[in-house]
Amino acid sequence: MTAGFQMELPGDKSLTHRALVLAALASGESTIEHPLTSLDARSMAGCLRRLGISISPLRGGSVRVVGKGLRGLAKPNGSLNCGNSGTAARFLLGVLASFPFPARVTGDASLRRRPMRRVTRPLQQMGASVTEFAGDGLPLEIRGGQLQPIDYVSDTASAQVKSAILFAGLVGGVAVSVTEPVRSRDHTERMLRALGVAVEVRETTVRLTPVDSIPPFTATVPGDPSSAAFLIAAALLVGRREMTLREIAINPTRIGFIEVLRRMGADIEVRETSEFLGEPVGDVIVRGSALSSTEVHADEVPSLIDEIPVLAVVASAASGTTTFHGVAELRVKESDRLTLLAANLDSVGRDCRVAGDVLYVEGQSRPPRGAVQTGFDHRMAMAFAVMSRMPGASLRLSECESPGISYPGFFRDLELVVSGPHG
Ligand code: S3P
Repeated sequence: MTAGFQMELPGDKSLTHRALVLAALASGESTIEHPLTSLDARSMAGCLRRLGISISPLRGGSVRVVGKGLRGLAKPNGSLNCGNSGTAARFLLGVLASFPFPARVTGDASLRRRPMRRVTRPLQQMGASVTEFAGDGLPLEIRGGQLQPIDYVSDTASAQVKSAILFAGLVGGVAVSVTEPVRSRDHTERMLRALGVAVEVRETTVRLTPVDSIPPFTATVPGDPSSAAFLIAAALLVGRREMTLREIAINPTRIGFIEVLRRMGADIEVRETSEFLGEPVGDVIVRGSALSSTEVHADEVPSLIDEIPVLAVVASAASGTTTFHGVAELRVKESDRLTLLAANLDSVGRDCRVAGDVLYVEGQSRPPRGAVQTGFDHRMAMAFAVMSRMPGASLRLSECESPGISYPGFFRDLELVVSGPHG
C-alpha cells in the first residue's frame, strides 16, 4: 500500500441517538456538531419532535435541540414511528416510562418483529404500564407510572436494554442498577457522567443515582466505527493504499472488530486524538496484510455485534476456518442475521455452517459469485457490497437503498477506498 489516503466518516449512530435524547432532556439549548443524519437518526429526531421537542433539521453540519428538562416531554399527537431503529424504540420506551400519558410506539416491518419484552419487562417491574398489540414486538403502548427503584439482572448483554433502564431511572427520578452477563457498549454511562450524573460501574453492574436536571451541551460526534468497519474491510480485501480514517469513536466496547482483524493479521493502528462527552476519539490507520482465520469468543461478541456480517465476509477470504462463538443475538437484529448471513455466503459459493449459536466460515481464494438477499438489512447490504468489489467477484445485491439507514454516502466512500479519489 502507498501512503496518504485520509477519510472522514458520518457521525456515530449510537452516540447521535444518545446525544439527541440527552439534549431533549437537558434544561436548555444544546448543539450537536457532526451528527449522523441517516434514516435511523431522523427517526429518533422525528419521535422527539412529536414529544414536543424543537430540533432543527438533521442535515449535517450541526443540529440544535431545545431541551425541556427531565420532565418536559408532551403527550404525542399520533404514534411514535421509529422506522427501522431498534435503538430509538427501546430508548424511547425507557424515557417514557414515567410520563403519565399513553404513547404508541411502532416501526417498519423489520422493527415490528424485534423483541421488546427485554425492555418492557423491567420497565413494568418499575411501574410502567404496557399494552401489547403484537406479542413480543411492536406496536405497543406505554403509559408511564410512579416508578420504583430497580436492581435489574439482564440475561442479555444489550446496551439498548441497559440504556432504557438508565433513562427510565434518570427521568423517573429513581435509583437503578443493571447487571449484564458481559458489559455491552458503555456510551450511555460515559455521557451521563460527562453531564454530571452519578453513574457508578463495578464489574458488569452499572448504578445510576437520580439528579434534578442535566445541563445543555455542545459536542462534536466522532465518526462511526461500525461504518468504518466496512471501509477497513474494503481496504484489507481490495485497497491498494494505506488509509487513515480520521476522528473515529474508539471506545473499547465498540472496536472489538479491530482486535479480531489484528489477530487475523491485519495491520491496524489506533491513535487517540481527542474526546467527546467522555468518549475517546482517534484516527485509525489501515495497511494491507495477508489474513488468516481466528476464533471470535462469546465474551467479545458484544464489542463487535454489529460488525459480524462484515467480519464474516473478511473471514471468507482469509486462509483457514474462522469460528464465531455465542452469536445467537444476531437472530434478533434488523434481520435474522445468522440465517441470512449463512444463506448469502452459501449462495456466493463460500463454505459456512451454523451449529447452535456458533458460525463457522471457511476462507476461500476463488472469487465469490451469485445472488445476495439483503433482507433490507443495512449491514448485510454493506458487507456484501464490500465483497462485490473483490477482484473477480460477481455479485447481485437484492437492493442498495438500505445502507441509508446508518451510512449515508456509503457507496461513494466504498468507491473511494477501492479505486481512490482519482478513479
Ligand atoms: C446499540 C446497541 C446494540 C447494537 C445497535 C446499537 C446501541 O444493540 O446492535 O446497533 O446504540 O445501544 P443491543 O444492545 O441490543 O445489542
